[in-house]
Amino acid sequence: MVPEQPVHTVASEQHRNFAGLRSPGEIIFGSGQRHALAQVVQRLGSRAFLCVDPHIAGSPELDALTDGLRGAGITSGVYADVVPELPTANVMAAVTEARAHDADVVVAVGGGSSIDLAKVVSCLLAHGGEPADYYGEFGVPGPVLPLVAVPTTAGTGSEVTPVAVLTDSERRLKVGISSPYLIPTVAICDPELTITCPPAVTAASGVDALSHCIEALTAVRREPTATLMGERVFIGRGRLTDQLALAGASSIISGLHRAHAVPEDIRAREEVMYGSMLGGLAFGTAGTAAAHALQYPIGAATKTPHGVGIGLLLPYVMEYNRGACIPEFAQLAQILGAEDAEEETRARRAPGLVQSYVRKLGIPVSLKEIGFDDERIDWAAEQGLKSVRLAENNPVPLTVDGARRILQAAAHGDAQADKTSKEIAV
Ligand SMILES: NC(=O)c1ccc[n+]([C@@H]2O[C@H](COP(=O)([O-])OP(=O)(O)OC[C@H]3O[C@@H](n4cnc5c(N)ncnc54)[C@H](O)[C@@H]3O)[C@@H](O)[C@H]2O)c1
Ligand SMILES: [Fe+2]
Repeated sequence: MVPEQPVHTVASEQHRNFAGLRSPGEIIFGSGQRHALAQVVQRLGSRAFLCVDPHIAGSPELDALTDGLRGAGITSGVYADVVPELPTANVMAAVTEARAHDADVVVAVGGGSSIDLAKVVSCLLAHGGEPADYYGEFGVPGPVLPLVAVPTTAGTGSEVTPVAVLTDSERRLKVGISSPYLIPTVAICDPELTITCPPAVTAASGVDALSHCIEALTAVRREPTATLMGERVFIGRGRLTDQLALAGASSIISGLHRAHAVPEDIRAREEVMYGSMLGGLAFGTAGTAAAHALQYPIGAATKTPHGVGIGLLLPYVMEYNRGACIPEFAQLAQILGAEDAEEETRARRAPGLVQSYVRKLGIPVSLKEIGFDDERIDWAAEQGLKSVRLAENNPVPLTVDGARRILQAAAHGDAQADKTSKEIAV
């Protein structure tokens, strides 16, 4: 694929020095930190509604958390029927139970689907209505119920982000509710909770996290006007998000192959969860771009997990963006083991290195492998462009024609996996 022409190669000093960040009021990270939950919730309410992933429902782990809450004088209602990728039909059932419990604080213990459910429940408890009332950016009119997020996957970064992603059951499409009010009040990230993730979940969620770092690092750089933060939830890249994205990519890359191969390796799990949290902070302000825009229709059509579609598409999107991201791609290639002296050479290798890296985790490299029919490429390109805010965040303008070319390359697996990379130690 011939890369598009760069549009943002030269940035003024003022552009480069701009920094913005939105984040939870408190982040607690570390093995064993889940036991801080009761102390944290006690500050926020006395009737907790827990949205928990089915894998943890009825487990001694969950019992220990609810016992801790009880010991702190907090009652808990537990909703454990979270469906992956969060169909909207799932949300109203949870809201009904939360109302019956008269909840004044919401807690999520689970993957991105559980955390996103908790975000929407907190919103509906505070403001009423149904999820569709809040689709898009800045649609949430004010603060939601206090929310504590405890992730059990290392991937989405949802514990620190302002967005909830749902699958609209009627339109069969992914939809987002984006608002600074949805950022959890407190994020408690305990890597020990990810030990039970089977390799397929570790791979899909870890690759999603890596893509957050890469898409945030290479997001468009906007004119830093004094109204920028108020006009957009996802504002494009800045100094703080660049630092977080690079550090996040480095942590994830150092730990993900090992966490996938040896699930109980806590040091590897810590690296991946730390990186996914940094990735969440980075993209929670900078935003993601074309890979996420195109994954929405691909995921809806093939029912593949979010991270699988993202990992498949990312190298092709990187190839499309390469001309606008030479220094950033060179840095990423270096993290992935490229030792070439020339920046251009390292940058050219980045898409292939990323593809080799995710391929070793079992991520497919062509749309064919996930059963996506070539004849639907035009449809998917048009649908992808409907995620206007994501498309606008791409460093190279994403046109329908550009989206079509990315998908055509992905259809047949046309990015060359770079097999010359240094092996990442497992
Ligand atoms: N809000 C955000 O910022 C954001 C960002 C990216 C993606 N997302 C969304 O998040 C969802 C994906 O979340 P996810 O990747 O965390 O997966 P998930 O929450 O959908 O869970 C995937 C599977 O893993 C299981 N699981 C979760 N934790 C486990 C554990 N510790 N041990 C064993 N099994 C476990 C679940 O039961 C489920 O079967 C998608 O809907 C995606 O669109 C949200
Ligand atoms: Fe994602």
